Amino acid sequence: MTKKNFNTISDVIYQHAGIVLKEIKEDMVYSRVSRRIRITGSRGFDDYLKLALATGSDEFTHFVNAITTNLTSFFRESHHFDFITQTALPGWKATPGRQRLRIWSAGSSTGEEAYSIAMTLADQVPKNWDTKILATDVDTDVVAQGDSGIYTQERINGLSKSLVTQHFDKVKVDGAQRVQVKKNLRDMAFFKPLNLLQAWPMRGQFDMIFCRNVVIYFDKPTQKVLLDRFADLLVLGGYLIIGHSESMYKLSDRFTSIGNTTYRKIK
Ligand SMILES: C[S@@+](CC[C@H](N)C(=O)[O-])C[C@H]1O[C@@H](n2cnc3c(N)ncnc32)[C@H](O)[C@@H]1O
Repeated sequence: MTKKNFNTISDVIYQHAGIVLKEIKEDMVYSRVSRRIRITGSRGFDDYLKLALATGSDEFTHFVNAITTNLTSFFRESHHFDFITQTALPGWKATPGRQRLRIWSAGSSTGEEAYSIAMTLADQVPKNWDTKILATDVDTDVVAQGDSGIYTQERINGLSKSLVTQHFDKVKVDGAQRVQVKKNLRDMAFFKPLNLLQAWPMRGQFDMIFCRNVVIYFDKPTQKVLLDRFADLLVLGGYLIIGHSESMYKLSDRFTSIGNTTYRKIK
């Protein structure tokens, strides 16, 4: 991979998904794109980039999917799920006439975040409420996996026995033992491909948005625009949850911090 190849890749990914690839990521990019070179039978980086970046190329989606970093887990940063149980949900329940709840997992990766929200809500939300969790990601492969709700056993090793029994079924996929999130939770979660940098088709407002460990890959101007768009889509008093190493410092005056990387929309 030449310097020029790396610069082309980082320019294209920045323009498309807002992801900033600094030089320190060269090795990572090399190994991820090399995999696509092997799969497509390309003759090298020049050849592959010609294929992936040609107008209307089917390979472009695979190229983007290969570059994204999808690290996630069930109940990652568990204090955010405690916050739902201890603070957000009692507040929502105390709102007279409320029967609807909308939560968005933006940058949902393979779905563990959305299903952790669903597990947290499952027994606690009144049965007659219309509760939906939207899970979106720019990477179409992780969206498809999230939608299936199928995971390897290792992914749920850290969960308590009671959570596993209550929320997962054992399934066989191509003869291999897997677990699948139960249907009642899958019915609550809606997985869609969505690039946060492009137009959002959602109309209604959200009560809570999780966007954790996503904006860390973006630069400050992109973060600023995104936070403003999140504010537009949240109800007044709605919650925005970000990742442990992310900060909204000086990026938006439309939220107030209520601790633990949790924010409330104030205007
Ligand atoms: C590290 S994962 C975080 C997953 C989950 N939110 C969590 O905290 O466990 C970051 C996700 O952001 C997604 N992402 C990156 N750029 C994006 C964009 N422009 N639009 C939508 N998703 C994006 C990646 O594909 C990846 O799945």
